[in-house]
Amino acid sequence: MKIIYLDNCATTRVDDEVVDAMLPYLREDFGNPSSPHVLGKRARRAVDLAAVSVAELLGADPRGIVFTSGATESNNIALLGMFAHEERAPVNALFCPTDHKSALAIGRALAGRGIETRTMAVRQDGLIDLTRLTEQLDVHSRVATAALVNSEIGAIQPMSELATLCHEVGCLLHVDAAQAAGRIPIDVVEAGVDTLSISGHKVRGPKGIGALYVRPGVRLRPITYGGGQYELRSGTIPTHLVVGLGKACELALRRLDDDWMRAVRLREAALELLTTRLPGVRINGDPLNGVPHVLNLVLPGVRGESLVSSLRTVAVSTGSACNSDSQEPSHVLTAIGVSAEDANSSIRMCLDPRMAFDELVRGVELVCERALDLAEVSVAMQAT
Ligand SMILES: Cc1ncc(COP(=O)(O)O)c(C=O)c1O
Repeated sequence: MKIIYLDNCATTRVDDEVVDAMLPYLREDFGNPSSPHVLGKRARRAVDLAAVSVAELLGADPRGIVFTSGATESNNIALLGMFAHEERAPVNALFCPTDHKSALAIGRALAGRGIETRTMAVRQDGLIDLTRLTEQLDVHSRVATAALVNSEIGAIQPMSELATLCHEVGCLLHVDAAQAAGRIPIDVVEAGVDTLSISGHKVRGPKGIGALYVRPGVRLRPITYGGGQYELRSGTIPTHLVVGLGKACELALRRLDDDWMRAVRLREAALELLTTRLPGVRINGDPLNGVPHVLNLVLPGVRGESLVSSLRTVAVSTGSACNSDSQEPSHVLTAIGVSAEDANSSIRMCLDPRMAFDELVRGVELVCERALDLAEVSVAMQAT
């Protein structure tokens, strides 16, 4: 049974070209990139070329790229690495409450160590309130962190404005670009970003690989120790994964504009269908200020989780809990002022810009049919 996949923020299918690029490094070219012999040299060359492709997608110098296991690890290396063990308040760090839990959990760990953490104010459209941020930053601010593209509502943060505000008080800016890389243009140098994370599996690359960009001059303390393959991140470099990430970045850069336009057309079609079939459907966040492939919708009278789990051939996700056992509404929707009731009636659709139009239409139709069934059941239950 073919599954219509509308959950491309959770992960993406690995592109066939990426798989083809990786395979030789699992078979004949299996050498360790740190080995000085011929196989090692081949692997090293592949790793260096991949770093160039990653750097090109980010507008960076390849020497600033460190390969990691994914955006979670990149966020940890950057945000923990900016503090010495003994540091305490008044040193502070600023976190965006709509960010991914991999950033927010680091904030809690820092707070546990005695560093003051401050929560940025976020507006209804999902954007950071820059006036409030100016008031929150001071000379003791070490780092502010924000996701460039929000993983639930798709809001795009103004990266260079954030960098300017931070740098005015000598604060560093870390950007989590896991959902942004390959979706919107990124130029770390022009924007003045200090460190930036990306993840392979969000850009049609493999899972278990990501990268951290570190601006020259930014000093980070390593959080793990070992053979020193990269100064910041030890461990044997997984050549096949690195090559996969490089290929995925190369393809993403080539397709950037085209994918955006395709996503705009798909979103228009999806919204037209949804608003015709489901009266009362509303959008969370501001689609005019977000990436076109992310649609976060309130379907009044329908429990998002029930809809997601009862769809047998369509994969969408709920904007609410990461943990399906939890009844907590989504921290992102809550932070932008969506009521708990609406948050629990929300679903997120993340489109693949390269999917066929008919497939999207079919997927949205199935979502609408199921939502109408569930809404009827809920009305009937309320009547009894
Ligand atoms: C914004 C953001 N940051 C970080 C991550 C974690 O990425 P990874 O799976 O590569 O650790 C995700 C994954 O959903 C994300 O959306």
